[in-house]
Amino acid sequence: MCGIVGYIGEQEAYPILLEGLKKLEYRGYDSAGVALLSREGLKIIKAKGEIAALEKKVGQRFPDGNTGIGHTRWATHGVPSDSNAHPHCACTEDFTVVHNGIIENYLALRLWLEEKGHHFSSETDTEVLAHLVEHYYNGDLLKTVQEAMKSVEGSFAMVAMCQSETDKLVCARKDSPLIIGVGEGENFIASDVPAIISHTRKIYILEDGEFAVVTSSSVDIFTAEDTLIKKEIREITWDAVAAEKAGYQHFMLKEIMEQPQALRETMRGRLLNGGREINLAELYLTSEEMNDISKIYIVACGTAYHAGLVGKYVMEKILRLPVDVDLASEFRYRDPLLDEKTMVIVISQSGETADTLAALRLARSRGNKVLAITNVVGSSVAREADRAFFTWAGPEIAVASTKAFLTQLLSLYLLTLYLAKARGALDEDSFECAGKALFDLPAKVEAILSREQEIEEIAGYVSKWGSTFFVGRNLDFAVAMEGALKLKEISYIHAEAYASGELKHGTLALIVEGIPVIALLTQKAVLEKSMSNIKEVKARSGYVICFAQEGAEGLQNEVDHIFYLPATEDFLTPILSVVPLQLLAYYTAVARCCSVDKPRNLAKSVTVE
Ligand code: M6R
Repeated sequence: MCGIVGYIGEQEAYPILLEGLKKLEYRGYDSAGVALLSREGLKIIKAKGEIAALEKKVGQRFPDGNTGIGHTRWATHGVPSDSNAHPHCACTEDFTVVHNGIIENYLALRLWLEEKGHHFSSETDTEVLAHLVEHYYNGDLLKTVQEAMKSVEGSFAMVAMCQSETDKLVCARKDSPLIIGVGEGENFIASDVPAIISHTRKIYILEDGEFAVVTSSSVDIFTAEDTLIKKEIREITWDAVAAEKAGYQHFMLKEIMEQPQALRETMRGRLLNGGREINLAELYLTSEEMNDISKIYIVACGTAYHAGLVGKYVMEKILRLPVDVDLASEFRYRDPLLDEKTMVIVISQSGETADTLAALRLARSRGNKVLAITNVVGSSVAREADRAFFTWAGPEIAVASTKAFLTQLLSLYLLTLYLAKARGALDEDSFECAGKALFDLPAKVEAILSREQEIEEIAGYVSKWGSTFFVGRNLDFAVAMEGALKLKEISYIHAEAYASGELKHGTLALIVEGIPVIALLTQKAVLEKSMSNIKEVKARSGYVICFAQEGAEGLQNEVDHIFYLPATEDFLTPILSVVPLQLLAYYTAVARCCSVDKPRNLAKSVTVE
């Protein structure tokens, strides 16, 4: 996820681009850059780091020019650096582009362009766009971009600028957001509303497969086949602060709502053909390496640790391999049992958590290869691990981790199925069935999110209590731990997670009339056992809020409140069942007027021991 801004009009472009980039910094801040068409020709300035670094580099005398494009980067292909920063040029400076998204076939395109004599100066996937435009250029920038994009696979929002057609910017979109702001004698392009809301509230939203030619006085939108599209201008009614959160009250809710898209990004290019195929060649694991694994060790902290717990259940069940999961802060001081056939996996959204990094270093110092599941390219964990598997969730701003968790789970499922295929742990039918069920999950998450009001009502009840319990067996226990953590960290309500069968060994003494007990009952194999535990709670007048799969009908008579989740394979339920728990924590915190995005005493990235 990166941020794009474009301006064409009568004003100096640089201050407008810079202000827009600052508003988009939430989309990434690994590097930033601008390109301006000035009277003396093209000027490009780029700097590694936050927008402030670009501002410092430019200094007091900013470059002139009434047309320009800008970009703030969240690194995907290529480490954060000046040379990988956007805008990117082709062989000459005639063509400049900024891009948000991932060009999946960039390597093939790059080799093809190199054969044709193009020289590349960055490690990015984006640079191929600039060279493609240069390659196809026929005197008409729009038609050239339409032609160039035919060969591009993946997701993109891009803007192209050309020195021989200085009166226009051309942009295109597929699977990454792009809007065009309409002004008086000036127009704007941006990834998101906050970048332009101080200039205009009138916007066009570009849809997938659409291209636009933007001049200072016109906006024309076309299909890939060059048919003119008539679109309505939309009026933005949010205030500037709400706009940064896409109209949501908090980043956490925005990020919860982004989860279907985040899952699709994690799957992109990996889960293919409707789920029938999995390709993780990016891990460069040989079949010998995969078959040699005799044990898996997963290490992480907080929410990422809970993802690891789910991973343990799933990997042990499918791969029939022993899996240990450890908190990084424990692992690093424990003298863990690792041999040369142990695969170590560390999970970290930020890639900067001090304990996780120390655990990674410990494992490597013992001679083990470490695979990192992380969200941040260029992070310490990504750089120091032997292999990195990126979750592509986009920047997560709220301290409470939500979309990172779902994409970590999905990454573990993908890895499990990939290893299962290599090790012959699943027959063809079971593999296909699992892959297809995975593929259907984003739509099911969408269906759950559309029922947020039901959860808000439950939160009204929970918010009045000072203590709660989360219970479940097997996979449901792992999700119960994550649900309890979410509630604790943002609503400050005491929340404890228990394996359902453990209640009777002591905790049942804490059950008093009305106390909320959140029960997860998604696992068919232990449904009846879990039900007996629920009855123990009900017999002590606890208030049971239950989450179960559709099809487990009849439970409503046994509990106080039931929320049925869309049905899926039992081993995949965590991706669905955690979503209402995230919403429950969110709405409970809102009801208690807590600081949702920045809870007390916490930090997004814990870089100290
Ligand atoms: O960036 P990481 O995934 O390494 O962070 C690990 C934990 O600090 C993090 O998951 C924390 O528990 C979250 N605030 C939970 O919502």
